[in-house]
Amino acid sequence: MKKQSVCPWWLGYTFLIPLRKYQHDPYKILGPHVKQGMTVMDYGSAMGYFSIPLAKLTGSKGRVYCVDIQEKMLVNLKNRAIKHDVSPVINTLLVGKNYNPAELKNKLDFVLLFMVAHEVPDQATLFNDLYAMLKPGGKILFFEPQGHVKPEDFEKSIQLAKAVGFKVPEDKPLKKGLGAFLVK
Ligand SMILES: C[S@@+](CC[C@H](N)C(=O)[O-])C[C@H]1O[C@@H](n2cnc3c(N)ncnc32)[C@H](O)[C@@H]1O
Repeated sequence: MKKQSVCPWWLGYTFLIPLRKYQHDPYKILGPHVKQGMTVMDYGSAMGYFSIPLAKLTGSKGRVYCVDIQEKMLVNLKNRAIKHDVSPVINTLLVGKNYNPAELKNKLDFVLLFMVAHEVPDQATLFNDLYAMLKPGGKILFFEPQGHVKPEDFEKSIQLAKAVGFKVPEDKPLKKGLGAFLVK
């Protein structure tokens, strides 16, 4: 696989632009999978383009864990959560600080892994941790940016996910791009 690099924090603002919904409509993408009261994770959340809709979909009885490796992304996300009135539902977890997969064993119904896996140096550990945190039957919506990620690298990620135990059904989460569901 290619050498990974983390997108700079200031690029996080570009993921929030309203025009993005024409390509990645959060409610269309997440709505069929996320229900009221669910416990979910937005891994590589950045400033929360998907986290806020996830919090609205899970509702006040749900929980949304937002994981990122850059604190500035999570600080901005927390402010946005207050503005959108969903902060009680959102928990921010910083990799290397308060992100501890062992604490969330068998707790998650759903994980969003959107345009981030290619930035993670050790994908085998990532999939292993996500597998452990999901409940049996829980799933990951896995998506990578086409062009930026080659189909053969996406396929390598799928093989790593299968090796830790995920099943990969035929259906695709988005009509276009490199996507798959990974089911525990
Ligand atoms: C390209 S952005 C995508 C953000 C978001 N998923 C979206 O679609 O709007 C990737 C994000 O993943 C984060 N990231 C990179 N490596 C990570 C890692 N090892 N663990 C957690 N987050 C990571 C980056 O800091 C960045 O916020």
